[in-house]
Amino acid sequence: MRAYFGRRYTISASHRLHAAALSDEENRAAYGRCNNEHGHGHNYAIEVLVGGPVDGATGMVVDLVKLDETVRTLILNRFDYANLNLDPLFADCVPTTENLCKAIFHLLRNALPEVDLEHVRVEETENNFFECSARG
Ligand code: NI
Repeated sequence: MRAYFGRRYTISASHRLHAAALSDEENRAAYGRCNNEHGHGHNYAIEVLVGGPVDGATGMVVDLVKLDETVRTLILNRFDYANLNLDPLFADCVPTTENLCKAIFHLLRNALPEVDLEHVRVEETENNFFECSARG
């Protein structure tokens, strides 16, 4: 039987949505108020879902201590209270929440090869969320 373990983390970060390849007018058309030059902030909720069997010895799907430590080191310390536009990960791509979600997924998948990372979901507001899945 396959089981799933999910954990939520929160960060506060700012960004400005502005694509270098687009003109100022095209940027305003694409991103609206999110293109304003002063940027804006979000309280992001990051959900990490791990799949796998329940370990017979520990009774757990994932080593929670290791997962927490990895997320704290690679994700929270990096992005919490950060201006996402200044992070090298977003030097060549716009720090939309789609791209933030992809970046978090790849950072965790590379750091935890023994973990079956099912998905990473990032909630930008109470109405918007983005999800990256191992499938597809
Ligand atoms: Ni935004």
